Amino acid sequence: MKKAEIKNLIRKQKIDHTLDQEFYVNDEIFDLDIKNIFSKQWVFVGHVSRIPNFGDYFLFNIGNESIIIIRDRNNKIHAHYNVCRHRGSHICLEKEGNKKLLVCPYHAWSYNLDGSIQSARMMSADFDKDEWKLNGCNLQIFEGLIFINLAEEPNSFEEFISPTKKFIEFHGLSNAKIAHRQIYPTNGNWKLTLDNFHECYHCQPSHPEYCSVHDPEYIIAYGAGNNTGPESEKFNKILLDWNKKVEDMGHVVGEYSETEFNNYSRSAERTPLKEGKYTETKNGKPIAKLMGKFKEYDRGYTSVGTSPFNSLLMCNDFATLFTFIPKSTLKTDVELMWLVHKDAEEGLDYNVDEMIWMWDVTTIADKRIIENNQKGVLSNKYKPGPLSQMEKGLEKFKNWYLKQLDLVLS
Ligand code: FES
Ligand SMILES: [Fe+2]
Repeated sequence: MKKAEIKNLIRKQKIDHTLDQEFYVNDEIFDLDIKNIFSKQWVFVGHVSRIPNFGDYFLFNIGNESIIIIRDRNNKIHAHYNVCRHRGSHICLEKEGNKKLLVCPYHAWSYNLDGSIQSARMMSADFDKDEWKLNGCNLQIFEGLIFINLAEEPNSFEEFISPTKKFIEFHGLSNAKIAHRQIYPTNGNWKLTLDNFHECYHCQPSHPEYCSVHDPEYIIAYGAGNNTGPESEKFNKILLDWNKKVEDMGHVVGEYSETEFNNYSRSAERTPLKEGKYTETKNGKPIAKLMGKFKEYDRGYTSVGTSPFNSLLMCNDFATLFTFIPKSTLKTDVELMWLVHKDAEEGLDYNVDEMIWMWDVTTIADKRIIENNQKGVLSNKYKPGPLSQMEKGLEKFKNWYLKQLDLVLS
């Protein structure tokens, strides 16, 4: 597809309808998405507790890029491109592990964990080690969350994180550890996967577990990404009452919502769970130690979107973090990480099965829905359908996406 064709296609997209088929199935558009949209975002790819010891590392792979995230002897975390400076081989081949030295499997050049060359066999006398360090990748750590950005000149991290900062900080994620991590490989384009994540029209038919802990009025209004419309009136009343109580406790309240989509699509809000529920468990009872600055259970739910590729959904006692990783045109990995207080002990303070119950069962259901959706979108008979009142969040995500793609092509 030529640039001009894609630009025309962008212009043709109808308000309050899903995207044209090409956006969900075309390989060239997928490549543009990765190189120009994903690669310009700050994306969190893990938590510091995944690599607690000197030499611990994991790989984050996206498109043609592979990034080594590794902890050095001085506890500093580095991000390097997994590309040997000799002739380009991948250096780390296992997805995770422990290495005190990064040795290329091809001709055995070796690198220190800060990316500098340790040794390069039989190179000429004028070989300058400093010139052939590993390429570093932009890295920032905020509250224990590891963010990377593949852009040559990334946006300011401070500017990026500032509107969601107070919401994340309250949950004390820097004092947390990963209690469980799971990838749900989903046979669907990343935009179809995120369309689904950004609307709750499907929650009633597909997610009885989600609906058992979230207020039905929240699902209609806030859960639909529509928190200012008339649909939200009933929930807003519930919210106002709750806000007062929670402010008296000294806990954070409020919301942030992006209105311009130039670079970012960030959001944050605190809302109450369904009456009588304290956390996202089967019986709604707390299961782990209070996290962060919470002094008592406030029945609150904090939803933060730092970009469409990441969401943090946080209860008082545990947090569920989402990373959506586009793998190919028709494949997306949905990675979930559950965090608890770092001193919480499994079996004593929390039980993994109880904690992951809601989002595990919901993400498996979403995988099924998205895969059915993708099959239909591949048909000749697919054409963009009209969106309901409860799909404003999807429309917002779609507008952000089209704007980013348009910027790339101009
Ligand atoms: S490609 Fe790595 S040492 Fe040759
Ligand atoms: Fe869902």
